[in-house]
Amino acid sequence: MADEVQIHPMEKADLPEILELLREVLGDGVLAKRPETWRWKHEENPFGPSDGLVARAGGNLVGLRVFLRWRWRRAGTIVPAVRAVDTVTHPAWRGRGIFRRLTLGMLDRVRKEGIPFVFNTPNEVSRKGYLKMGWQDVAKVPILVKPLRPMATILRLLKRVDRKGQRGELEAEGVEAMLRDPGLDPFLAELWQGEERLHTPRTRDYLSWRYARAPGIDYRAVWDFEGGSGAAVILRLRDRRSLRELTVVELLVSEGAGEKQATLLLRDVIRTARGDCLTAHAPKKSREWQLLRRAGFIRLPVAGPYFTVRTLADTADDGLEPNQWNSWMLSIGDLELF
Ligand SMILES: CC(C)(COP(=O)(O)OP(=O)(O)OC[C@H]1O[C@@H](n2cnc3c(N)ncnc32)[C@H](O)[C@@H]1OP(=O)(O)O)[C@@H](O)C(=O)NCCC(=O)NCCS
Repeated sequence: MADEVQIHPMEKADLPEILELLREVLGDGVLAKRPETWRWKHEENPFGPSDGLVARAGGNLVGLRVFLRWRWRRAGTIVPAVRAVDTVTHPAWRGRGIFRRLTLGMLDRVRKEGIPFVFNTPNEVSRKGYLKMGWQDVAKVPILVKPLRPMATILRLLKRVDRKGQRGELEAEGVEAMLRDPGLDPFLAELWQGEERLHTPRTRDYLSWRYARAPGIDYRAVWDFEGGSGAAVILRLRDRRSLRELTVVELLVSEGAGEKQATLLLRDVIRTARGDCLTAHAPKKSREWQLLRRAGFIRLPVAGPYFTVRTLADTADDGLEPNQWNSWMLSIGDLELF
């Protein structure tokens, strides 16, 4: 088998075949196979273009493995990392170690660059393979939920009224409007400056790429900035198994006065949201967690995705422990699959 399959660095010219393979394996409805999604995700990412390996057999593309670049921040220091995202093996070529060879090959490439760890939220199938390659489960991400109209939701589910395709709604603008607010830059400059848990630095560039330019995903924002302090809530409107869900993908709160603004914004979101429920995540017992709990969010007994990490260097020396859940300050926006 080893001779039949050749591994190459991913190149621009591979793109039509990559999209074809993604479409064949994941189906037509999936955003990943659209060229505009690929460009946005792997070429326009403010953390840099993605790196990947492909497998070819008899000239045909039979496997793909991509690492998306990311940057975390911790006590003001930037920590580069990569996120293991698109990986597929052609159905006729599965079970022959292609995913394994491609993934180990990518680990070598990023190790040489000095990247200290890889992270991702794998599905059940690939997770088993990752765990065999040294990945560790860091957590099953806890999810908070705020039912909006529980009786109506229960009745509808009992009557099996299918709302699939109908999204929740909200009185909120698109994220571009928040990016135009002159209060945004002073707010971001102060946000989480001393935060010691690993978090994505929320810069204007990042927010614009992630929430204003993501093709085909509907994000909305409410915000209130005042002289460097304030709060912002970014939400994604989605339908999930016939539930109209509004997901809080970001809850950004400045020190001090920000808490009051966040409380008022969450109250507005709950008042104007039309759907079945709001969901959110924040580190347990953090200020953000407490704000959500006070707004009526409760912890769901079932948790969200697995968050997994593969360390590449001995990071313990400088206190970096990405395989410990309490090292992280994540939002759903950091974790959702896109
Ligand atoms: C996940 C996927 C990429 C695996 O590809 P593959 O080339 O068949 O995987 P490999 O042969 O390299 O397997 C590597 C390891 O993963 C494990 N593994 C792979 N598929 C598995 C499965 N369906 N169930 C359990 N373990 C599995 C294998 O046990 C193997 O370990 P081993 O070598 O010790 O036996 C492939 O099944 C696929 O394309 N799935 C659809 C797309 C997808 O779900 N991608 C992941 C999220 S983007």
